Amino acid sequence: MITVNQTEHLFHLHNGRISYLLYIMESGQLGHLYFGKALNPNGSYRHMIEKSHRPMTTYFTEGDLYTSYEHLCQEYPCYGTSDYRYPALEIQGIDGSRICKLEYQNYCIIKGKKPLPGLPATYTEEKNEADTLEIIMKDPYRNLEVTFSYTIFYDFDVITRSVRFFNYGNEPIFLNRAMSMSIDMPDSHYQSLQLSGSWSRERYIKIRDLEPGITSISSTRGHSSHQHNPFLALKRSSTTEQHGEVYGFSLIYSGNFLAQIEVDNYQILRIMLGINPFGFQWKLKPKTDFFTPEAVMVYSENGLNGMSTQFHRLYRKRLARGYWRDRERPVLLNSWEAVQFDYTEDTLLQFAKKAKDCGIELFVLDDGWFSTRNDDKKGLGDWIANPAKLPNGIEGLAEKLEELGIKFGLWFEPEMVNKDSDFFRSHPDFLIQTPGRSLSHGRNQYVLDFSRPEVVDAIYKQMDSLLSKAKISYIKWDMNRSISECYSAAYPPDQQGEIFHRYILGVYKLHERLIQAFPKLLIESCASGGGRFDAGMIYYSPQGWVSDNSDAIERLKIQYGTSLVYPFSCMGAHVSACPNEQVGRRTPIETRGAVAYTGAFGYELDLNQLNEQEIETVKQQIVFYKNNRNLIATGDFYRLLSPFEENFAAWEIVQPNGKYALVTVTRILSESNGPYRRLPLCGLLKEQEYSIQSKYLSYCAYGDELMQYGLILEDKSSGQIIDGSGGCQDFFSIIYIIRAK
Ligand code: DGJ
Repeated sequence: MITVNQTEHLFHLHNGRISYLLYIMESGQLGHLYFGKALNPNGSYRHMIEKSHRPMTTYFTEGDLYTSYEHLCQEYPCYGTSDYRYPALEIQGIDGSRICKLEYQNYCIIKGKKPLPGLPATYTEEKNEADTLEIIMKDPYRNLEVTFSYTIFYDFDVITRSVRFFNYGNEPIFLNRAMSMSIDMPDSHYQSLQLSGSWSRERYIKIRDLEPGITSISSTRGHSSHQHNPFLALKRSSTTEQHGEVYGFSLIYSGNFLAQIEVDNYQILRIMLGINPFGFQWKLKPKTDFFTPEAVMVYSENGLNGMSTQFHRLYRKRLARGYWRDRERPVLLNSWEAVQFDYTEDTLLQFAKKAKDCGIELFVLDDGWFSTRNDDKKGLGDWIANPAKLPNGIEGLAEKLEELGIKFGLWFEPEMVNKDSDFFRSHPDFLIQTPGRSLSHGRNQYVLDFSRPEVVDAIYKQMDSLLSKAKISYIKWDMNRSISECYSAAYPPDQQGEIFHRYILGVYKLHERLIQAFPKLLIESCASGGGRFDAGMIYYSPQGWVSDNSDAIERLKIQYGTSLVYPFSCMGAHVSACPNEQVGRRTPIETRGAVAYTGAFGYELDLNQLNEQEIETVKQQIVFYKNNRNLIATGDFYRLLSPFEENFAAWEIVQPNGKYALVTVTRILSESNGPYRRLPLCGLLKEQEYSIQSKYLSYCAYGDELMQYGLILEDKSSGQIIDGSGGCQDFFSIIYIIRAK
């Protein structure tokens, strides 16, 4: 999959569907040539390099008035020599100079893919799944070696990239900016698409037209954030869900990030993704190395949905890992929205019994079980059961749940402390805090300094002691505040720029230790809902709580936006109580189920408060989900109607063989005397006859009709779904089952 043209100094990564071309410039720098639909592997492409004389620029070779880094498409631009756009790399020597000039040394091709030490990354299971090109460059002046890794997968239309820096010199070199990827695209006629929002309305789709200058999203909060997701796409203005060109760029990282697009005045577009340079500086000591997080780049000519399919398949199969990767996830009941901090062992056992009767497989005890925690003011850091609530401890409760025949899951917030805790009293120096300055709190809590191995170790020991003794098969890993006053007492002044990154490495380390010690433990990540819902976390937690907003109608947008990059198998989605805790909305239980099915499904309410009919519905929902969860987790996903654009949200999940599909249609508000509606489906077999069934409708049609003419949303007998006259209400969902005959 990697062709090297020695004469042209050109590297071509291809898999029959996509091509990525880079070359070595005469000056030794790495140039970018092409990323997109597959080109002929035998082609010669150096003529594609465009350059011309431009006034008011600087040229790096005497006598040459054509070759300026400012006007060449580059692969990993460095600061300092004739490129005035923002660089991917900026270094600094102890002499204060920030100039860097990388020169090509050699390359090698590796079968498969190497892991990234201490960082989450995509992987291969067999060597022939992917090829990796390593290009080794050097700044001879600083004795800095830079290795660029590019992996192309046979089965996925992605290129992954990361960079390793090694200091061969005798003096430290500071990395002020070390992005994971950068590409100069030959035109800028794109719109950028980002996933942005805030707590409880995460990952809304935002599209902007690009103009000369900088467009960026980022996080400075110490986690990837509710505000912006570490992902950007470039789409043509004519690109739709199913048609047209789109590039997707996703960073496998959970800390501060920057995703930036720069359009220059000659219509060249530079896109880069990596650790946010703001607040970052890494002291690369002599004979040490530094790895950037991995960036994943997707090209699709099949619209946004085509891009999502590539991300979903890759992240499901070669980013998620371990025991739970391919296993059906348990239907769970979480205690939080039902009781918050207020419960006894008896209350919990009643919940669990009812849950078991309904077919729920896992009972998750959320916040409030430890120390003296009866509100959010105390206890974080002391991971020992509160005897007033749990007289038999966590072991005793777990034992009783096992006897009931239901698995047990437990909530932790490992990275945080309350000052009112024994852990803080014995380790007041374990916080992230700046000496001599006041320290801000969030939700009355403070951030532990996970950049220090001894802090991670102290928390690991507490968790290990519980997990080793009690039958715990799941943990919910919460994280409810961002980092402020960032500083670590354990590092010297010239390493304080490392703390944000070292912090997240500590978070990864604790995850890794737990996974190694308890390989069957299912970890669900959560950060006040979706504050750290990113590709980095998927490597450790195959599912994550998408948002604290559990209202089915709000979830339409949140899950729809999230699905741009992340598969349903990763999205924790629960049926919660009515009226909804966050927005007070009343939605039918069928709608709450239909929206939550497309995720790692569960309930978050007091089942004892439901009437008999509702309990019957819950039981049926669980049976339906169990029958379909394999399809939901592994099927191909299609977005059909966008809640960002219409009064409807609709999506479809199709078995990869095209023989079975589920279509979920939700109408947000009732319509009076609405139009006829048809919904063209995707991914079916043209010549296959299907039976179509919903609660209100049943007919047969061939795949071509369903994909061309569309599924008929109207039920002609009762007028359900499209016609208000049929007595239907707001917030109405319907599921269509499409089965090959
Ligand atoms: C925030 C989480 O997102 C909620 O689901 C819940 O676990 C609370 N924290 C508990 O404090």
